Amino acid sequence: MKMKYTVAVLLLFLAAMAVMPALSGCPTAGRDRAHGPGAGIWGCLPARLCQVWPVNFLSLIEAKREGQTLEPAQVKAIVAAFTAGQIPDYQMAAFLMAVYFRGLQPAEVRALTLAMRDSGEVLRFPEDPRPLVDKHSTGGIGDKVSLPLSPLLACLGFRVPMISGRGLGITGGTLDKMDSIPGFQTLLPTGRITEIVQGVGCVMCGQTASMVPADKGLYALRDVTGTVPSIPLIVASILSKKLAENLDALVIDVKFGCAAFMPTLEKARELARALATLSNECGVNTRALITNMDTPLGRTAGNWLEVKESVACLTPQPASPASRITHHASPSATDLRDLTLACAAHLLVQTGKAPSLDAARQQAADCLASGRPLTKWNEMLAAQGADLAAYERKLALDHTAPVVMGLKAPGSGFVSRCDARIVGEVIRELGGGRLTKDSVLNYDVGVDAILKPGEAVQAGDPLARIHAADRSAAEAACVRLKAAFDISAQPPAAIPLIAETIPAQASGGL
Ligand code: URA
Repeated sequence: MKMKYTVAVLLLFLAAMAVMPALSGCPTAGRDRAHGPGAGIWGCLPARLCQVWPVNFLSLIEAKREGQTLEPAQVKAIVAAFTAGQIPDYQMAAFLMAVYFRGLQPAEVRALTLAMRDSGEVLRFPEDPRPLVDKHSTGGIGDKVSLPLSPLLACLGFRVPMISGRGLGITGGTLDKMDSIPGFQTLLPTGRITEIVQGVGCVMCGQTASMVPADKGLYALRDVTGTVPSIPLIVASILSKKLAENLDALVIDVKFGCAAFMPTLEKARELARALATLSNECGVNTRALITNMDTPLGRTAGNWLEVKESVACLTPQPASPASRITHHASPSATDLRDLTLACAAHLLVQTGKAPSLDAARQQAADCLASGRPLTKWNEMLAAQGADLAAYERKLALDHTAPVVMGLKAPGSGFVSRCDARIVGEVIRELGGGRLTKDSVLNYDVGVDAILKPGEAVQAGDPLARIHAADRSAAEAACVRLKAAFDISAQPPAAIPLIAETIPAQASGGL
């Protein structure tokens, strides 16, 4: 009797195992097996069941450690279980380290990206002739392109759900810059994000708690386990968030150089290719621009100072600001304007709104010169709760930090180096960047009026201005910042703004 009962239970269990994958849409056990010891029983279980089943995640860690390829369903199940809090951090950390050393196959990266995107809410927008577009930058010093670009794109007939991040380490974050605007709200509920995008045309805010929760958990672990610089993990992290915006087109600015995530052009190219390939495969028309980050972008670095420079970039200028360097106003340098226009131009071409990059750049430049993007910027600030009167008063001030100190050039000649990494470190030491995720920022500190490579300087003239909380911080920053600059008798060779575009384009000067 007991024997009969045991056999019946066993048969029932096997029957259930056979039908469950089919019921759930999970691939069958045969197709779903990993190519090695990692397969186990888990790989064939539907995600819902994986969340309650005693998970044999160890065998998947071992499979990845041995360089085996996981099936998409297994990757999906890992993300589902991790997001549900069913994989302990120590095991996920081991898995991430295995991925760091062994890499992921394209199908694994795709499965990871889509599973991360689907770990939370995906933005949904009503039918509208205006394409949904965005730009992402891998981060740098003084990289404030998103600020003028977002209202410019809205004026060019796009909808821009720009979901940005905060700075960590030496690189700045768009959200921190926007948080320096009095009253401006960067944390918005999903409904309000779509409402502002539909009404104003652009929004600049942070991820909601319900968007891409898997990335939040995974990034926090990567950050403390030395597994951030892994191309497949970076690709999944960036694209899961961008795909959750439900975009039609995307431009990704992949930086390389001394202050960039990717130190060399070769590494940046590898990342750019991986990002552009997968994003295009996922249905988002995507181009990657590879740009240099040895020197800060524009003339300012530091949260509020970058907002000021962005507003200057949005303000129609009667004459070229590049030729006049006033050490009080920090005029927008041409590299900021040029990169902003280049991003807009690519998106115009990608969405069929312009026939060529040259025509698109002209269209974007005309739009910027019309002043409409500046009006749109103010409209966006108001929609996101900014106190416009307080903002205008702040904008009119030369500086908001208590102490401003010039860094004097030790000799005459041409600036031949302005090291963005040192500038970033100085800003972090001044309190403008984060040492940990919980660091409290001083939005007013930073560096402005930065002279750029190729510009002439006389001995004793300022190479840059330091904005600090007190005199001793300013003096310490001055000593440190000195090392960022070299001055030579001859101007250095000019560095192109955009080193490469992926997929390759007949550039038309961009
Ligand atoms: N930015 C991200 O969002 N994720 C990464 O992994 C790296 C940079």
